[in-house]
Amino acid sequence: MKRTIVTMPGDGIGNQVLPEAIRVLNAVGFEANYVHGDIGWEIWCNEGNALPERTIKLLEEHKLGLFGAITSKPKKAAEAELKPELRGKGFTYFSPIVTMRQRFGLDLCMRPCIGFPGNPLNFIRKKVDGGFEEPQVNVVVFRQNTEGLYAGVEWTNPPQPVRDALATHSKFKPFANVKGEDLAVSVRVITRAAAERICRAAFEYARNFAYSNVTICEKPNVLRETSGLMEEVAKQVARDFPEIPLWSTNIDAQCMWLTKNPEDYGVIVASNLFGDVISDAFAGLIGGLGFAASGNIGKEVAVFEPTHGSAPKYAELNPPIVNPIAMILSAAMMLDHIGETEKANMIRAAIAAVVKEGHVRTYDMMRIPGGAKAISQGAATTTQMTDAILVALERVAQGELVAAIEE
Ligand code: NAI
Ligand code: MG
Repeated sequence: MKRTIVTMPGDGIGNQVLPEAIRVLNAVGFEANYVHGDIGWEIWCNEGNALPERTIKLLEEHKLGLFGAITSKPKKAAEAELKPELRGKGFTYFSPIVTMRQRFGLDLCMRPCIGFPGNPLNFIRKKVDGGFEEPQVNVVVFRQNTEGLYAGVEWTNPPQPVRDALATHSKFKPFANVKGEDLAVSVRVITRAAAERICRAAFEYARNFAYSNVTICEKPNVLRETSGLMEEVAKQVARDFPEIPLWSTNIDAQCMWLTKNPEDYGVIVASNLFGDVISDAFAGLIGGLGFAASGNIGKEVAVFEPTHGSAPKYAELNPPIVNPIAMILSAAMMLDHIGETEKANMIRAAIAAVVKEGHVRTYDMMRIPGGAKAISQGAATTTQMTDAILVALERVAQGELVAAIEE
C-alpha cells in the first residue's frame, strides 16, 4: 500500500528544506503520495487561523505528516498583521504546531541528539593534560509534548474565580493585592497518564536500542507537585525495566553536566518546557539547528519536523543556503516510525558520509555568517548539500559505505 504523507512546509525556510527531504525519500526508493497542507503565518493573516480545518482533515485522514517550520509573533503583532477585515473580530493567534500536538494528542516528542563523526560543529572539551577530546554524544530526548507549562492554561489579568481559587493557596498571599493587569499566571499541568506514556516510551526506546541509562530531568525539589509526579511515575515505570538504571537530574544541573560529561547520558525524559530546553541544549553539542530533528508521535497521528524555525532572515535568499540535514533526518525518523528502518539507516549513512568527508558544507558547518556572501566563501547551497547526500546514497545502495553505517 502506497502511503500518503501530508507535507506542511509552512513559512520561511520550511519551504526550502521540506522539498529537499522529499528528494531524498524518493531517492531511497520510498514510494508515497504527497499532499500539501496549509499552515503558518500567511494562513493566519488571511484566515485568522494558522492551522485551518482543511489541514486538520488531511492529517486525520492520512495520519502521517512532514512539517517544515512556521513563523510566529507575539500577540500584538499577530493582531496587527491580520488582514483588515478580520481585525477586531475576536481571532486569537495560537501556535499551529502546539495546536496540532494538542489536537491530535501528539504527546511523545522524540529528539535525537547524536553526533556525526567528523562534524566540525561537534562539541570538544579540553583535557587535563592540555589536549582536546571530542565526547561521542548519543542522547535521545523524550519530551512530553502536550501538557506542562505549554498546556496553554494561562492568563494576564486572571478572571475573579481564578484569583479566588489562587487566594486559597497560602503561597499566593504575596501576590494577592497585585492589580489584575499587572499579574500573569501560567499553569503547569501534569497528568499521571501522560507522564506514564512518555516515561514508558523512553524506557522502551532505551531497551530496544540498548541505551545504558534513562534520566528523568525535572526539578522535584522545588516543583514538588508537578516534577514530583513526573519523577514518581518514572520510578514506577523503571520497575518494568530492571536492566536499565534510572538516573534523576535537576534541569539546571543537567545544563551544567551537559558540557562536562555529555557522553554519560543516554535517553533523557522530561516534561514539556524542560524537554524543550534540554533537547536544544544537547542539539548545540552535535551541530545545532542544522542537525536537530524531531518526531511528534501520538497514538494515531505522527508528524516529523526539524527543531529549527522559519529563519526569516535567510528565507528570501536565492539560492537558499540553510542546512537541509535536520529536515532530512526528520524524514528518516518518519521512516523509522512506519517500520522502514532499512531506508532510514541508508539515509543516515549517506549523511554520515557527507559530514565525515567534509567536501560539501553549508555555511553553518563552516562557522561563517549566513547570507548571500556565504556561497562565495565556499559554502554549499541547500540544494548542493542534498545533491551530495544523494550521491552518497547511491554509494550506500551499492554497499560501498557499509563502514560508514557500522561506525
Ligand atoms: P530559527 O530556528 O528560525 O532560526 C535561528 C537561527 O538559526 C537562524 O537565523 C539561523 O542562523 C539558524 N538556523 C536555523 N535553521 C537553520 C538551518 N536549517 N540551517 C542553518 N542555520 C539555521 O529561530 P528564530 O530566529 O528564533 O525564529 C524565527 C521564527 O521561527 C520565529 O517566528 C519563531 O517563532 C519561529 N520558530 C518556529 C519553530 C517551529 O516551527 N517549530 C521553532 C522555533 C522558532
Ligand atoms: Mg524549541
